[in-house]
Amino acid sequence: MLLRLQQVALSFAGNTVLHDVDFGVEPGRIQSLIGPNGAGKTSMFNVITGFYRPQRGDITFDGERLVRQEPHRVTQMGIARTFQNVRLFREMSVLENVMAGQHCRSRAGALSAILRLPSQRAEEQRILETSLACLDFVGLLEHRDRLATNLAYGHQRRVEIARALATEPRLLLLDEPAAGLNSGEKQSLIGLIRRIRDERGVSVLLIEHDMSLVMNVSERISVLDHGRLIAEGAPQAVQNYPRVIEAYLGQDDEELTW
Ligand SMILES: Nc1ncnc2c1ncn2[C@@H]1O[C@H](COP(=O)(O)OP(=O)(O)O)[C@@H](O)[C@H]1O
Ligand SMILES: [Mg+2]
Repeated sequence: MLLRLQQVALSFAGNTVLHDVDFGVEPGRIQSLIGPNGAGKTSMFNVITGFYRPQRGDITFDGERLVRQEPHRVTQMGIARTFQNVRLFREMSVLENVMAGQHCRSRAGALSAILRLPSQRAEEQRILETSLACLDFVGLLEHRDRLATNLAYGHQRRVEIARALATEPRLLLLDEPAAGLNSGEKQSLIGLIRRIRDERGVSVLLIEHDMSLVMNVSERISVLDHGRLIAEGAPQAVQNYPRVIEAYLGQDDEELTW
């Protein structure tokens, strides 16, 4: 397993959000995490990436212990994420937003930055080149000098993906990347997710409500409901599990799109 959660428990003021969750992602996979609103999906991402500290349990990434590490350290170890609500720096260009994601990888220290030592300039050049390559990869190179928040919403989501890729992750966590996209944009998101895995060798774990997208792109699906994993397996199998159908009943119609 590339990522493994064992008996992870998370609660807030007595409200249990994750109940002893065992979960894993194998290397090279495109995997989805689905479940009704409030199931604990985003909380699971927050636990993995060090934003939340679980009360119990263990998390390893490629055999290294991950649990309760700081978020920047988790990024350094090779896990990048995007957020359910787009988080871009308002006053920065597209390119600057992507470059801002790479400070975790910066080797030159603060002192060399102040003194502008050659090592620092080489580092800046490397960050610039990586950022341009990632913008090219997501198809936004021509927009690099625009203010990120002036881009169309679908493009802003791609800036976030470029920023995540620029940290050179081995695992990419995408939190509802298709939310707010039109059907053409969803189609090209499917292509992008496949290219991220196929061309860059990055494993992808996807939280997503659009079931046709999930069914189309995932090789494995895990279903979370009320903080418990209730089903796991290949898309066609999971889709027909009675417990999964039951968990989704009572959800808004727009979320029942399969
Ligand atoms: N920081 C927090 N403080 C208190 N409760 C939280 C916090 N984060 C998440 N929760 C609770 O955890 C539950 C799961 O939320 P979330 O992980 O966002 O679900 P999902 O992403 O599956 O919709 C919800 O009941 C939510 O209110
Ligand atoms: Mg969520």
